[in-house]
Amino acid sequence: MSSSTSTSTSSVPLTFRPIPPTATIPLRHLVLWPSIPLQDQLVPDYDFEPTTIHLGAFLMASGTGSSRSPKAQIGSEPQPLDATRLSRSQSDGEEPIAVLTLVHHPYPSSKLVTLPSTIAQRLPPTQIQLHKFGVHPLLQGKGVGRSILNHTIDLLRLRAASLSNDGNAEGTGRLFLHFDARASQRTFYEKCGMIVLNPELFLKFGSTGKEVGVEYVRMGNIL
Ligand SMILES: CC(C)(COP(=O)(O)OP(=O)(O)OC[C@H]1O[C@@H](n2cnc3c(N)ncnc32)[C@H](O)[C@@H]1OP(=O)(O)O)[C@@H](O)C(=O)NCCC(=O)NCCS
Repeated sequence: MSSSTSTSTSSVPLTFRPIPPTATIPLRHLVLWPSIPLQDQLVPDYDFEPTTIHLGAFLMASGTGSSRSPKAQIGSEPQPLDATRLSRSQSDGEEPIAVLTLVHHPYPSSKLVTLPSTIAQRLPPTQIQLHKFGVHPLLQGKGVGRSILNHTIDLLRLRAASLSNDGNAEGTGRLFLHFDARASQRTFYEKCGMIVLNPELFLKFGSTGKEVGVEYVRMGNIL
């Protein structure tokens, strides 16, 4: 997987790069499961697997030479960001303002029968589960989520293609991205090209199993 790139479809200038598991903790805590203490945010089942990829989106430096930019370019006009609500290292592009995690994990076998036929009939062997996707609250609704997801899809497609070219048995040139989507974010994912894989809604109670339940729906698509 590419170590760094600087393309962004967001109106907020971004770069993307792999990050260590610990770098996901602050945003997971802030936007996903605030009731779970920081030290319990990582999930031993998958966060430390060698094939797991944690990806971060970072604000691009303004290029003015200033060590700290209080503004970010949003659209064609510079819009003030409330930098007091972003940490200094987030404003400076040193800490991520969006994170997600990609895990080599097959779709639950018990749910395969309920997959839409368009997916089930051409299910690739390479299956990746998206976990713990969050954008800083101050930057939500500005295209950052779509941008990092598009970047992820591009990377995974490249990866699938290279597996195929290498003659790897897994390499079909396609892969299946799936995830448990918060039901409240279903439209966001649909706008990013994902589909509902199973209309059944279900509750999750965080990695501790003791948090206030959040409603989810299984989504994804073949890339
Ligand atoms: C869900 C999340 C990752 C989306 O990222 P984002 O940067 O806010 O979304 P974008 O600005 O890229 O939105 C892309 C499109 O989806 C739409 N959209 C985003 N969130 C939406 C929502 N909850 N409901 C309906 N539409 C939504 C946007 O309006 C935009 O539509 P447009 O292109 O027609 O203007 C982000 O809002 C977030 O971190 N939410 C809190 C944590 C969370 O729920 N994570 C997902 C866990 S499964």
